[in-house]
Amino acid sequence: MGDRRLAATLFASRVVAGIFGALGDPLARLVRDTGSADPYPIYESIRARGVLVPSRLGPLMTASHPLANSVLRDARFGVMPNSEMTGLDLDLRGHGPLPVVDPIEGSFLMRNPPDHTRLRRLAAPSFSPRALREQTEIVESVVAGFLDELAERPSFDLVTDFAARVPIKVICGLLGASDAEHARMMDWGTTLAGAIDGVRTMRQVHTLRRTLVELNEFLTEVAEDHRARPREDVVSHLLADPDLSREDLLATSGLLLAAGFETTVNLIGNGVLALLANPEAKRRLIEDPDCAPNVVEEVLRLDPPAQFSGRTALEPVELAGRVVPKGTPVILLLAAANRDPEVFADPHRFDIDRPNAKDHLAFSSGIHYCLGASLARMEGAIALRALFTRLPGLRLVGPVRRRPSRAIRGPLRMPVTARTRSTVA
Ligand code: HEM
Repeated sequence: MGDRRLAATLFASRVVAGIFGALGDPLARLVRDTGSADPYPIYESIRARGVLVPSRLGPLMTASHPLANSVLRDARFGVMPNSEMTGLDLDLRGHGPLPVVDPIEGSFLMRNPPDHTRLRRLAAPSFSPRALREQTEIVESVVAGFLDELAERPSFDLVTDFAARVPIKVICGLLGASDAEHARMMDWGTTLAGAIDGVRTMRQVHTLRRTLVELNEFLTEVAEDHRARPREDVVSHLLADPDLSREDLLATSGLLLAAGFETTVNLIGNGVLALLANPEAKRRLIEDPDCAPNVVEEVLRLDPPAQFSGRTALEPVELAGRVVPKGTPVILLLAAANRDPEVFADPHRFDIDRPNAKDHLAFSSGIHYCLGASLARMEGAIALRALFTRLPGLRLVGPVRRRPSRAIRGPLRMPVTARTRSTVA
């Protein structure tokens, strides 16, 4: 697809979403109100319309926990790359010396079995309990180091100066990349996450193309370095398979950045926001730091970083009393399912003692269940526990800016201080 046609298609889709949104179509409202401070009323309006709700934009949607969970576990549904679903071809081939690999569209996140099974298995050893124990020590020590530095500052940005630095350190470790790469990796991770819910403007298209070319070059260098000096990490595990193609190698290693960075940043950011808004929960965390895992689980339930996912019917399927034709996309509103009153009592309340908080769908369900879930839980618990025990007076000193995304939810900028009011005065 040439750039002029692409620009026209993007413009047309924004207009269509604007018109249908104004007419009350809930999916069009979600598309239109990107970065909305509070998408939850839209989710509730979808829930009020039934368990499986059609949109004039084409897909079906569900806010129901049992239905979303069963679709995610149903082999008659599969994943489909965004480009195939929307018909948008970003034409990446001509923008690098070799075909450019997109770690979201080209990875096992967007593949069905048997490819999905084979590739996921290759990446899995790096997420074993032993690997997690090793990572835990590293995360505890880097978080303590960041906080030593931030405690000295009059104010700082919670997202860029703290939350983003934790997962980027972990992902660089997984890929065997040096600390010198942190800044570039953060930029790439942000661009990739911004593209998860589809591109909207040509500016985004250009940034995404540039990012993918740079990321492909970087991951190629990382792979060459590992070929020369194998070690115990994801890239070496992948390279150990002689049949792995260049595309699968780049997509799988790039997926760790695409899936593991912004999601974890937003877990920490959403956690801080929830704790600042709920002083009693914050007090409990400070007095009993061991409740950090409960806090993380409830943050994931109440305000998940990945707000929705999608599946496509691979054959005609009867679902909630209607026949879903082959090829129909179904949007699983994970954030809405996490507030389904059939599963969670008083679902809009932040309650760190909730007995079934772990039943949330923040990490999805079925064969694509998040491979990094234990890692993310560990990073979130260490970050929140250390932040509030070390800086118990943490508070906002300016407005929170949210990310301009509908699929990924969390703060983009969050100015905070750890100083007490009397010290600042
Ligand atoms: C709070 C943080 C995180 C959240 C909320 C999250 C959420 C998700 C969700 C919802 C999916 C499945 C999407 C679907 O079903 O369509 C997923 C898949 C995945 N995530 Fe995470 N994730 C997080 C952190 C991480 C981390 C830290 C890593 C690794 C460094 C990671 C790696 C992956 C991978 C590789 C997949 C693909 C799994 C598959 O397709 O089989 N995630 N994640």
